[in-house]
Amino acid sequence: MRSVKSYQASSNSNLTSMPQPLTARRSAPISGRVKVPGDKSISHRALILAGLATGRTRIEGLLEADDVMATARAMEALGATVSRSGAAFEVLGQGVGGLTAPDGVLDFGNSGTASRLMLGVLAGYPMRVAMTGDASLCRRPMSRVLAPLSEMGLTVEGDKDTLPFTVEGTADLLPIVYELPVPSAQVKSAVLLAGLHAPGRTTVIEPLPTRDHTERMLRFFGAEIDVKTRDDGGRAVTVGGDAELTGAHVIVPGDPSSAAFLVAAALICPGSDLVIENVLLNPTRTGFFETLREMGADIEILGEHDEAGEPVGDLHVRSSKLKGMRVPPERAPSMIDEYPILAVLAAFAQGETRMEGSAELKVKESDRLAATAAGLAACGVEARIEGDDLIVSGRGAVPGGGVVETHMDHRIAMAFLTLGLGSEAPVTVDDIGMIATSFPDFVPLMRGLGAQLP
Ligand code: S3P
Repeated sequence: MRSVKSYQASSNSNLTSMPQPLTARRSAPISGRVKVPGDKSISHRALILAGLATGRTRIEGLLEADDVMATARAMEALGATVSRSGAAFEVLGQGVGGLTAPDGVLDFGNSGTASRLMLGVLAGYPMRVAMTGDASLCRRPMSRVLAPLSEMGLTVEGDKDTLPFTVEGTADLLPIVYELPVPSAQVKSAVLLAGLHAPGRTTVIEPLPTRDHTERMLRFFGAEIDVKTRDDGGRAVTVGGDAELTGAHVIVPGDPSSAAFLVAAALICPGSDLVIENVLLNPTRTGFFETLREMGADIEILGEHDEAGEPVGDLHVRSSKLKGMRVPPERAPSMIDEYPILAVLAAFAQGETRMEGSAELKVKESDRLAATAAGLAACGVEARIEGDDLIVSGRGAVPGGGVVETHMDHRIAMAFLTLGLGSEAPVTVDDIGMIATSFPDFVPLMRGLGAQLP
């Protein structure tokens, strides 16, 4: 058994080391059969719920990337035991209410999900906990999570809105009914996790449905969850308080947000024929694939089935000619992390692609709206931002030849390396270090499929 503490060194080294630039060149077909690593959102939730459960949880397919290891270390610091056992991870939980005060500061690195979900957990504990993150995370707004959690009883020293800060929860949380002002699964999840510790029922209302892994997994671990879907598609999710969770066997499917880069590479490199096995196909995550099909992409879904409460299947992708389209704002939550790579594909399409209602992109690991538009401009693509919309003029081919600034953002790095696989001239990204936060094997895996990433 290997404790997750041994991941600390490799994780932190990625955050402090010198920038590592990489150049992508026009590639031969991207072909083969691969698996992508486990879904990041599900991996975080599996570790958290396992730590809050009584007994042992076995997690297969956990994403071993820096962001998820930040959650694993935080759960360990709070008293759960997390260890690797062969190809799986095992967590010995402490029960809802059973976590204990950490010795030092909880460092969440680059991970918004880890820090925001953990705030929901900490809300139920009367202990002071200091939290921090890297430079990117310390710029991201936490008020969206702190607002509902403060209503429930969490206090933040100095009323701070960005990390680092110290919080103190309470054993007397108030259950609330909270309507999300922004479509955010992180905020929904933080409130539901806090609701586990509150007496009575806590409800989150979401006008636009966001990823629902927390609800699905809470049910899987034995919590009382009620989901009501309104006629307009919005949802009310209620969790029963004073909950008891029981250790479970979780199987984490492949991450569709990681698969997105492989799909894109196959679409733009002529002659490609790629199968990506065992990808999560939860409808709250598949807006990107739906959009690509509307743009003319040849993507087939094979062998769809359910695994441990989530739909999964294989994606068969062949290179395709794409056409520009209007991407409606209500689709944003189901493809929120895929906009940078969609914008890259829009550059290879014929005609204009208008991605509407992308305001949330401004508060991701970087301002992704600005970083994507700037990256495209550096590669000779006409792109502009109008309010919250990103508009890309596709000409069927991309000049390339630029150096792209990644702004400590893994998805900007992977999106523009992918662009370079199909552009006329090579494309350099200024730093690939952050790719380790979500997809540590991205570069070797892509090379194995034929990508020119020398
Ligand atoms: C996530 C939710 C999304 C997404 C992030 C992961 C989650 O963030 O961008 O990468 O696991 O809940 P928001 O909730 O802020 O939209």
